[in-house]
Amino acid sequence: QSQPTTFPEDFLWGVAIAANQAEGAFDQGGKGLSQADVVPHRRPTDYANLEHLMRVDEAGIAEAVAEKGTGRYPKRYGVDFYHRWESDLELLSQLGITAFRTSIAWSRIFPNGDDEKPNEEGLAFYERLFTRLRELGIEPVVTLSHYEMPLNLVTTYGGWEDRRLIGLFERYADTVLTRYRDLVTYWLTFNEINSTLFEPYTGGGIIEREGENTRQRAFQALHHQFLASALATRRAHEVNPGAKVGCMLARMTFYPMSCSPDDVLAAQEDNEMNLFFTDVHVRGEYNGVVRRHWADEGITVVMEPGDAEILREHTVDFVSFSYYMSMVSAANPDQHGGTPGNLMNGIKNPHLEASEWGWQIDPKGLRYTLRDFWSRYRLPLFVVENGLGAVDTVAEDGTVHDDYRIAYHREHLKQAREAVADGVQLLGYTAWGGLDIISFSTSQMSKRYGFIHVDQDDEGNGTLARTPKQSFGWYQRVIATNGAAL
Ligand code: BG6
Repeated sequence: QSQPTTFPEDFLWGVAIAANQAEGAFDQGGKGLSQADVVPHRRPTDYANLEHLMRVDEAGIAEAVAEKGTGRYPKRYGVDFYHRWESDLELLSQLGITAFRTSIAWSRIFPNGDDEKPNEEGLAFYERLFTRLRELGIEPVVTLSHYEMPLNLVTTYGGWEDRRLIGLFERYADTVLTRYRDLVTYWLTFNEINSTLFEPYTGGGIIEREGENTRQRAFQALHHQFLASALATRRAHEVNPGAKVGCMLARMTFYPMSCSPDDVLAAQEDNEMNLFFTDVHVRGEYNGVVRRHWADEGITVVMEPGDAEILREHTVDFVSFSYYMSMVSAANPDQHGGTPGNLMNGIKNPHLEASEWGWQIDPKGLRYTLRDFWSRYRLPLFVVENGLGAVDTVAEDGTVHDDYRIAYHREHLKQAREAVADGVQLLGYTAWGGLDIISFSTSQMSKRYGFIHVDQDDEGNGTLARTPKQSFGWYQRVIATNGAAL
């Protein structure tokens, strides 16, 4: 172990949420339906296989659109952050946070995505929110697109596969970048951009169809998202030369199952296919491994003259990522209980414990990941999601004794501190959740991440009362001591 050091003086300590999982009020303030508003509550039997959880088809969307209430669509009500944000920020500020990550719901600003004029009520909502954050001394970290594009862009345009989405996104990005120029410095373009490949509906608004090559469609959609991200980055810098724009990746660090060269190469292959997304954002070009995949799979990504320049000229200022777990690769995954070709390939790491949802908890993997990113890009890094989804029990004294959550964050933060001692430039850490919100993948309320308990069950029943958990006091001490109390 290297010498433990402290976090940088200006380290951003925070929490992170997303509009679609927290705000609710899906039909208020002039908001249009978003892609998240039509995803029903799942009762999955296989939590580790994310890919079957977020698939939505045309019939499902039609059924959801016909439902005018909140129905069985939990992201329509979230945890009512839209109405409770002031008291929520009050409580969160008691943690001592210096950063708060959230997203702007595109459908609050452009209800249909292709409207000529933005919705002033939506703009005013985020202006109040960001202004209050500033007053509290909290840096807003704002994601432009977090799984919540206007539904009309899915149903009328077919999602990001359609190149016109670039222009529509530019209009939206320009509107918010300009409006919040003096309030927001840190912007993230697409949340977990790699989800477009493993969750085409969630990431790209793509409805999968029999007989169509989903990967071809997803790669095309991704090309449009990379361009949209580069153009938003350019605009952010024009509007405010001090703006800091980051990309955002669900980092899946893969370890080889064994030291057999075949397993080592399989892991490297998986890592390259995970890192090609950040390569495009940082280096402004596609790496050779992904190009080879396209050739081998017969995939043609349509690019227009000038696209390469746009990608090359407007690269990001920092790299942000979510980190929940590490993965294992093998040349023959089926021999190790895995599923070939599945990102959540199911191979178990015998050295790690897993969460109740099968996510393999690996704090040291965070140090490895930070060092790996740093040596690849030499750009500032930002851990914008990390946390433990767990079922919490409210004790008789009304509190939640979530020592398991404390242990999770403590061990990850210790490893992040080690990475800082290794020379990694780390901007901050925003723990996922802050307060309990609706889970993204399963839409469950019972999969909780927060330091603040929210009284609501999976059916949407409860008082919505907010109560700090045991982890709240712990995180408060950690922040107050800039990590010394870990
Ligand atoms: C990330 C997403 O994938 O993981 C978040 O950016 C999400 O939106 C988080 O909530 C945790 O996933 P889940 O499914 O447990 O909520």
